[in-house]
Amino acid sequence: MPTPWSPQAHDINALFWWLIGLSAVIFAIVLGVIVVALVRDRARPGAGEPVQRFGSTRVEVAWTVAPLVTLVVIFVFTVRTMRAVDPPAPPSAQPDLIVVGHQWWWEVRYPSAHVVTANEVHLPVGRRMLARLEAADVIHDFWVPRLGRKMDLVPGHPNQLYWQLSRAGVIEGACAEYCGAEHAWMRIRVVAQTEAEFDAWLRAQSQPAPAPGSAQAREGAALFERLACGNCHAIAGTSFRADVAPDLTHLASRATLGAGVSGNSRDDLARWLADPQQVKPGVRMPNFQLTSGQVQSLVAFLAASP
Ligand code: CUA
Repeated sequence: MPTPWSPQAHDINALFWWLIGLSAVIFAIVLGVIVVALVRDRARPGAGEPVQRFGSTRVEVAWTVAPLVTLVVIFVFTVRTMRAVDPPAPPSAQPDLIVVGHQWWWEVRYPSAHVVTANEVHLPVGRRMLARLEAADVIHDFWVPRLGRKMDLVPGHPNQLYWQLSRAGVIEGACAEYCGAEHAWMRIRVVAQTEAEFDAWLRAQSQPAPAPGSAQAREGAALFERLACGNCHAIAGTSFRADVAPDLTHLASRATLGAGVSGNSRDDLARWLADPQQVKPGVRMPNFQLTSGQVQSLVAFLAASP
């Protein structure tokens, strides 16, 4: 079990080890009884049939009551943990962030700041954040073990979950519900930041993309428009608003491409643009058969805005 980074994950971890301990004790008792029976009642040379015992009310009551009590205790502890790690949100509560599962990436929205990013969830340490989890196509499952419980993302049925991290750093998770060809490359990066860092990040992300600075970047912007990249992608501050594919406004600020399948250096981005199917077979982005000059222009345009 990974070290918990949140009170919720801590409670789940504690329940897990508690149940493992209880199971170990029960296992030892059952094994002990079997060993005693084997040794005490084993066949001995010259001995006749062992004593046959039938119908012991005491034994029957014992082996009914003991499991019953054990299961009731497990039930109570499990329900207590469930209430602690996943309390219901009040009906009027507005989510702090919205995570939308897509084949095969995560859209992450911070509605009040008008920020949209992908495959990275930034959270301020110590602040309890209410997340709403949605799906755009099929069922996905958000699971970052150090953060808390798993939660399905179900089309047409938003789920809610409170997240609260107790330390800063980066933790990772993945989609935990088979959702198609690239299910394995639906990784999640959770970036836990101090309040100040988080607020600065949110402020930076809420800025529109800067106008392309170089001739090459301007060429890339024109190409972006001509190739109709905006049919799927959005870039804040431009007319591209689609949310079929990841928002590219601050693409360069993210650590990975393709939900973790590749790094996000300029070379990685060039490799991705040259043939996304090579990097992530099955990904919804087609191969646009770009020339290397076109790839470099698009990289200059897209990598300019951290
Ligand atoms: Cu999304 Cu598996």
